Amino acid sequence: MDIAVTETILVTGGAGYIGSHACVALLIAGFEVVVLDNFSNSHPLALERVQKITGRTLVFQQGDLRDHTMLDQLFHAHRISAVMHFAVLKAVGESCSNPLAYYDNNVVGTIHLLQVMQAHAVQRLIFSSSATVYRPSAVMPLDENAALGATNPYGQTKQMIEQMLMDCCASAPWQVALLRYFNPVGAHESGLIGEDPAGIPNNLLPYVAQVAAGVREVLPVFGNDYNTPDGTGVRDFIHVQDLVAGHLAALRLLLTKDKQQAFCRPYNLGTGNGYSVLEMVQAFERISGKSVRYRIMPRRDGDVAACWANAQRAQQELSWVAEKNLDAMLADSWRWQSNNPQGYRS
Ligand code: NAD
Ligand code: UFG
Repeated sequence: MDIAVTETILVTGGAGYIGSHACVALLIAGFEVVVLDNFSNSHPLALERVQKITGRTLVFQQGDLRDHTMLDQLFHAHRISAVMHFAVLKAVGESCSNPLAYYDNNVVGTIHLLQVMQAHAVQRLIFSSSATVYRPSAVMPLDENAALGATNPYGQTKQMIEQMLMDCCASAPWQVALLRYFNPVGAHESGLIGEDPAGIPNNLLPYVAQVAAGVREVLPVFGNDYNTPDGTGVRDFIHVQDLVAGHLAALRLLLTKDKQQAFCRPYNLGTGNGYSVLEMVQAFERISGKSVRYRIMPRRDGDVAACWANAQRAQQELSWVAEKNLDAMLADSWRWQSNNPQGYRS
């Protein structure tokens, strides 16, 4: 069935790394976009760049998910068909030192969103979940039936929200896609939007890119004694453009679902391939032509040796597969980093 392109999609966290790429994909696909963001981890320039890339405008509301009155007004003002919900806090370490801030922002924020959606009979939601909801396991790849068991407060908030959404679907006809991301990297090929971590990056790729750009001196490699081919951690890196294409595929599925029938289903979004930390460093040096100094450090608490996806369900049910290879991920990441050495504050 064709989807009417006049559908309006609310994107919470639309100024953030993945949300801004989702806005580009939605606008290019012809959807109207309303963004809600409080800029707690993003910059308004990201939204200007989204409009520059697409040649289209979006509606922007600065505000916090926990502001129930503002949310209610937003749903009154716009005829929203579905929500893509990216707005959470996501730093694993910070979630361990300040768990209440994470439960409040992520879980309480989502409760407000769901309450307002329900009050306005908007019950289609795409939720940014994460491979972090899976219990650490030595058996790879992970499919959607793998046991759950998040190991830190950030992951717990994702697991709780998944559970809340399943409970909502058991009581009313919500249509929900739980998209479990593996390791999103890369940037839009324009080099205009990308990942802009505040302070010291927590994740591998932004750190590697900042060392290559001379913003940081040396990459800490957390452990080289794992049971992996070169001893360093192995992850399933996925291009952010592929990731947002998965969101569009899920959105199209939800928009064709009968509004009276509940639907709630998890989908892994990954490539099914694993690359080690040192493979990433070497590939980044090759792509950027820069050297990336690194130092082997002790293992990081909470890390698993290896993690990659079985993404066959998304292929079968969403007709989606990740298409971009590692070189494209790193070239786009490097273009963003070298064009914007200090991120949006450059
Ligand atoms: P991000 O921090 O760049 O984007 C999140 C956005 O939400 C930011 O713009 C922030 O300002 C906004 N925000 C946070 N709390 C808010 C609130 N209460 N009200 C309004 N706005 C709020 O993060 P991202 O990397 O784009 O991640 C997007 C989603 O994907 C998150 O839900 C994250 O947990 C999930 N995810 C990310 C990764 C990853 O490696 N980037 C992996 C798995 C899952
Ligand atoms: N790593 C380093 N040095 C760094 C950063 C990371 O060696 O400076 C290593 C880690 O030890 C790990 C690998 O690089 O072996 C990947 O680490 P990331 O922090 O980039 O990613 P994670 O797999 O730990 O976690 C990410 C997100 C989580 C999300 C998970 C699955 O941070 O929020 O992917 O989607 F849940």
